Amino acid sequence: MAEAYEPENILVTGGAGFIGSNFAHWVVENQPGVHVTVLDALTYAGNRENLAGIPQDRMDFVHGDICDAPLLDEIFPKVDAVVHFAAESHNDNSIADPAPFVRTNVEGTYCLLEAARKHGVRFHHVSTDEVYGDLALDDPARFTEETPYRPSSPYSSTKASSDMLVRAWHRTYGVRATISNCSNNYGPYQHIEKFIPRQITNVICGIRPKLYGDGLNVRDWIHTEDHSSAVWAILTHGRVGETYLIGADGERSNIDVLHAILEGMGKAADDFDWVRDRPGHDRRYAIDPTKLRRELGWQPKHTDFAEGLAQTIAWYRENEAWWRSVKEAVEAKYAAQGQ
Ligand code: NAD
Ligand code: TYD
Repeated sequence: MAEAYEPENILVTGGAGFIGSNFAHWVVENQPGVHVTVLDALTYAGNRENLAGIPQDRMDFVHGDICDAPLLDEIFPKVDAVVHFAAESHNDNSIADPAPFVRTNVEGTYCLLEAARKHGVRFHHVSTDEVYGDLALDDPARFTEETPYRPSSPYSSTKASSDMLVRAWHRTYGVRATISNCSNNYGPYQHIEKFIPRQITNVICGIRPKLYGDGLNVRDWIHTEDHSSAVWAILTHGRVGETYLIGADGERSNIDVLHAILEGMGKAADDFDWVRDRPGHDRRYAIDPTKLRRELGWQPKHTDFAEGLAQTIAWYRENEAWWRSVKEAVEAKYAAQGQ
């Protein structure tokens, strides 16, 4: 394990989104000496409410764009490290309109790297396992840090591009950077366009859940709180210049996840609709997290998926005001795509 790095002021980009806000809460609760600055453009996916409850003396919120270089020049002198979550993050949106993905994910990461280089700031890049493309259902293999990049969608190709920029800025300019590639997250504050919250909120609204294709696609689910603790472990104990895969042995087919949601919400197992498949739909993702566990001693806390899912269902039931106002528009957009 590398010698501990102890940042005192961290910049969290995309901290008003799903994973970034969970990370901000996690840091405030678990790292008492650390001050968080959130930089977020508050796109359709960002919500200031996600940060409610964080004491004012622990966090500053900056409403702004990661592509705004003069703004970054104001913020970077005040921080030791940036943890970069900001992104356009939804595959289906990237298929409908890739332009914002190229801008935020590629150009935005470039702007942040330039600021990190200029101001000597430590950089942690939050990425996805989707950069590795997909695996066959009958393949025993899982992704490792050595797996070649083979992204399939506009979303994953822009995330792969951003990873490449981070590697180049480390090697060429010596930016102190690490990268993590994590599997599918679930938990509170996830936008209802994504699979699990879409189906939970469908059931609450009396809409039949929607399953793409044959429903056999596999995702490797991790609770977002475990993602947060892993990112912290990598930022503070990871080796600069290295990539770490984050996963919690959570492989499940989409139909199994949907059945668990239906059962958990008192619905019949066949009470859903089959809908049009996603173009280029990745078949299976699976993470081998050996490096993270062996080198940094990291362990997930949420190892019982049924329990994590039950808590997530309860959160969406209890926080209807958080998602209700956008539900109709999200479903109208999907309906227009035949999904
Ligand atoms: P999200 O869409 O919920 O949140 C993204 C946040 O970034 C939003 O608050 C949005 O307002 C902000 N943002 C977007 N463009 C911006 C810009 N130009 N400038 C400043 N802020 C901007 O996404 P998420 O699911 O929380 O994902 C966060 C990160 O984690 C992404 O980089 C994603 O690639 C990565 N990741 C996500 C998953 C997953 O399962 N969701 C898995 C692995 C990795
Ligand atoms: P998603 O949450 O969009 O994450 P990702 O594309 O990053 O894996 O989708 C997870 C899986 O669920 C993916 O295989 C697509 C599928 N899916 C559905 O079957 N129905 C839906 O309504 C959605 C949004 C996704």
